[in-house]
Amino acid sequence: MGTLGTAEQEIQRLRDDLQRHEHLYYVLDAPEISDAQYDVLMNRLKELEGQHPELVTADSPSQRVGGKPAEGFLKVPHSRPMLSLDNAYNEAELRAWEQRVRDALPSAESVRYVCELKLDGLSLALHYEAGARGAAYLVRGITRGDGTVGEDVTSNVRTIRSVPLSVSAAKLEAAGLLVDGKAESFEVRGEVVLPQVAFERMNEERETQGLAPAANPRNAAAGTIRTLEPNIVAQRRLDFYAYFLLRDGELLPPNQSGALEALRTAGFRVNKQARTVADIDAVLRFIDEVEGLRDKLGYEIDGVVIKVDSTAQQRRLGFTGKAPRWAIAYKFAARAGVTQLEDVLFQVGRTGKVTPVAALKPVFIGGTTVTRATLHNADEIARLGVRIGDFVQVERGGDVIPKIVGVVDDAGHARGTQEIEFPKICPECGSHLVKVEGEVDWRCVNANCPARLREELLHFASRGVMNIEGLGDAMVTQLLAAGLVKTIPDLYRLAEKKEKLLALERVGEKSAQALLDEIERSKGAPLARVLYGLGIRFVGERTAQLLSAHFGSLDGLMAASAEELEAVNEVGPRVAQAIVEFFAEEKNRSLVDKLREAGLTFTAEKKITTSTLAGLTFVLTGTLPTMTREEAKELIESAGGKVSGSVSKKTSYVVAGEEAGSKLDKANSLGVPVLDEAGLLSLLGQGGPES
Ligand code: IVH
Repeated sequence: MGTLGTAEQEIQRLRDDLQRHEHLYYVLDAPEISDAQYDVLMNRLKELEGQHPELVTADSPSQRVGGKPAEGFLKVPHSRPMLSLDNAYNEAELRAWEQRVRDALPSAESVRYVCELKLDGLSLALHYEAGARGAAYLVRGITRGDGTVGEDVTSNVRTIRSVPLSVSAAKLEAAGLLVDGKAESFEVRGEVVLPQVAFERMNEERETQGLAPAANPRNAAAGTIRTLEPNIVAQRRLDFYAYFLLRDGELLPPNQSGALEALRTAGFRVNKQARTVADIDAVLRFIDEVEGLRDKLGYEIDGVVIKVDSTAQQRRLGFTGKAPRWAIAYKFAARAGVTQLEDVLFQVGRTGKVTPVAALKPVFIGGTTVTRATLHNADEIARLGVRIGDFVQVERGGDVIPKIVGVVDDAGHARGTQEIEFPKICPECGSHLVKVEGEVDWRCVNANCPARLREELLHFASRGVMNIEGLGDAMVTQLLAAGLVKTIPDLYRLAEKKEKLLALERVGEKSAQALLDEIERSKGAPLARVLYGLGIRFVGERTAQLLSAHFGSLDGLMAASAEELEAVNEVGPRVAQAIVEFFAEEKNRSLVDKLREAGLTFTAEKKITTSTLAGLTFVLTGTLPTMTREEAKELIESAGGKVSGSVSKKTSYVVAGEEAGSKLDKANSLGVPVLDEAGLLSLLGQGGPES
């Protein structure tokens, strides 16, 4: 057997393995291997595919990012309209609906109902078509749009790891989806959601970049799915829950419960909570249970969807104007309440930003007692016209922190009398607050402000950064109060002061050692994380990754000029300037030195070297979304690749942008693989899904 045969087999085996592990991890939440082991398999696959570009297939797990970033999205009609649902807000309305269902069906017929969670995201239609090896392949992902015509967001959908890029013949068979023993096209509809953790991470990131946070996970998911760059979408960690299975625009008979089961078997994520019940009382019990679960799910829901199980009954019930008669959404009451504003506190964040926080008279909202709410900034206080003593409407949205949405001003609620005064000096250290022209926030610019230090430490230790377990709010506060830690590097000297650590409240031998172990482990954190942890303005998680990949070492980055920094994809003058200024400060350079002395390794995970693309020849055509052709050429050459002007059988890849012309046709006719910009970046190990 030639080497190609061996490589082909190995590639196939790697793909099968990776697909299985993705399913275990992203759909079943039951991983069998570590992230690092997964990366090893993925890197091997990418390596082999790099050597044998002719073997790259669209459904390869390496190809999740690399779709076509467009200037806009194409409009495409739905196979059958994506309708909405009628709502019921209480038991009486739900029972009335059930009565209408039974009245419309022969009285002897029993009706079963499928109860599903009503996920608060946006609906999406995925089209799968039969293809090679008897499998079905994801060919299109379409947003709901106006219900009749949606937008083709396929390249973004492909980055969602719980969306299978293909469904194997074996899985189709197990799911009962073969027709006459063969794969056939089908359509899956469901909801795209942004899980709570991903939402919080995204907002943290936006904050470091000086951007306004997204209001709730639904808005964030909607914005993300319409982002023009798939590699950004990939970072956001959207999730997809399937709830409809269609063929030729019709729901698959005989029932919804069977369809959910088939979807699950085929490898889709289907809500675990979904339940089929025999009467409306059981539906109500389900609703009760779900309300209790609501805060523990990890993603937002705004109710329960109840569907008549049998597709035959569904057909007889039919539709009203824009909603089916056979389904209804039971909407939970908005998680809101009215309470009194007792005071406003001003919190100083890591970047010195001062945030007004409302101290509220305790109020029970949606399962928890709320005593604090954010007022965002001075402009927001002015917009609300709120005063201390006012009764305010408080809402708990998808965000963890409740917010004040308005002042209650009616006969039953007297207005407060005390105006809220935004401080002129830092409530923690007394230095004068500064507001930069054009920004809404006031900031404490004293680098030694104790509040800032506290937040810096918390940020450094947090999950998305150095992930030092046990170093949360309470511990940091204690360490600071006891004078055990004054700066970040002090964390790494804690082991020498274990006796003092043990003297702290609620710290025993076991927890002290666990904390010290965690701190020790964090020394090996990759460069990107340490960079993010340093708290350089505008350098969020993603920028840190790009910088790490580009420079490959902290020294390289520290030595870079603003101009050199701007050469990094996505780094603009403002970010470059902030980085230069950060490392120009003696205090920050010494921080880095101390971290190095403490034993931090600052290891870059990937660096473009002159061997990354060695031996590969590229042809560029069309307009790329974020790079000029000259920039793309430089990038390829810096990675050891060659750029040629014409396509031949020897061309390894054609990189095509908008309005690519005859070179693209030639590539297709010769079978030369075609990449877009994102595909090129992922080949370089940049911008691909983070590890
Ligand atoms: S069924 C015609 N099932 O709710 C049937 N929708 O208010 C309509 N949604 O547009 C969809 N979870 O975005 C269905 N389990 C679920 C759902 C669900 C969330 C959303 C969906 C739909 C909206 C209707």
